[in-house]
Amino acid sequence: MQTAQSMLQMCGLPRLEARMLLEYVLNKPREWLLAHDTEPLSPECAAQFLTLAAQRRQGIPMAHLMGWREFMGHRFAVTPAVLIPRPETELLVESVLDLLTNRNDPAVLDLGTGSGVVAISVALARPDVRVTATELSVEALTVAQRNAQSLGARVQWWQGSWFEALPPEGRFDVIVSNPPYIALGDAHLVQGDLRFEPVHALTDGADGLTALAQIVAGAGARLLSGGHLWLEHGYDQAETVTGMLKQAGFTFVHTRPDLAGVPRVTGGKWE
Ligand SMILES: C[S@@+](CC[C@H](N)C(=O)[O-])C[C@H]1O[C@@H](n2cnc3c(N)ncnc32)[C@H](O)[C@@H]1O
Repeated sequence: MQTAQSMLQMCGLPRLEARMLLEYVLNKPREWLLAHDTEPLSPECAAQFLTLAAQRRQGIPMAHLMGWREFMGHRFAVTPAVLIPRPETELLVESVLDLLTNRNDPAVLDLGTGSGVVAISVALARPDVRVTATELSVEALTVAQRNAQSLGARVQWWQGSWFEALPPEGRFDVIVSNPPYIALGDAHLVQGDLRFEPVHALTDGADGLTALAQIVAGAGARLLSGGHLWLEHGYDQAETVTGMLKQAGFTFVHTRPDLAGVPRVTGGKWE
């Protein structure tokens, strides 16, 4: 007889991951599992759990096995077509929301929206904001649109490359992006979850700085006077991104660290 307790012990996964997969299979919250962990599992549930545990041991990301990831308190659908949302990207959303305090009828643009986490989180936190998002990948854009629909967020979507995706007249109070910033050949690309994520979401295929540079170069023409650009970047790219922003004419350029103390997002003001 298989019980939740015996499954958690014998599956060969870290306890937290095993528990999350079992909760997913049983479709029950943690409290239920704690109270019923010595009861027999149905053969179907046991088999499904063992299949998922085997896939996880092969490295398939938890977000792909479960089909979702939480971000800013919302549950976003995740498929192999999109970057798995990272907790550090919440700092980007918080930076945008801070800038929108006391602004009336503001417009925000999210470039390279992926699963839509940034655009949708802003739209849900501030339903008065006009949120626009662009994405090169048609498959990713479909995931983002589905997420917006299921979470009840209003976002205008455009498919295409960075600013080229937009109609010519659009101007914004805040532009935000978490672009692909890992250099081609970086060892992280062949480790952990990254092996299963779309390569175009992770790397620019060059030194990791070309997408950041393209966005900085194009932002001025799309920002309203007094508007801001905020970018997520790699742990060692803050100085370079700061230089790019200053050279392009941005003022009040500064970097914010993530919860681990890593310089993670840098932004500036367009006069
Ligand atoms: C690092 S992922 C970020 C996804 C999402 N914003 C997030 O934070 O989870 C970068 C995204 O940029 C998209 N992308 C790559 N090149 C692009 C381009 N030239 N124009 C628009 N989007 C692009 C990728 O498809 C991917 O979805």
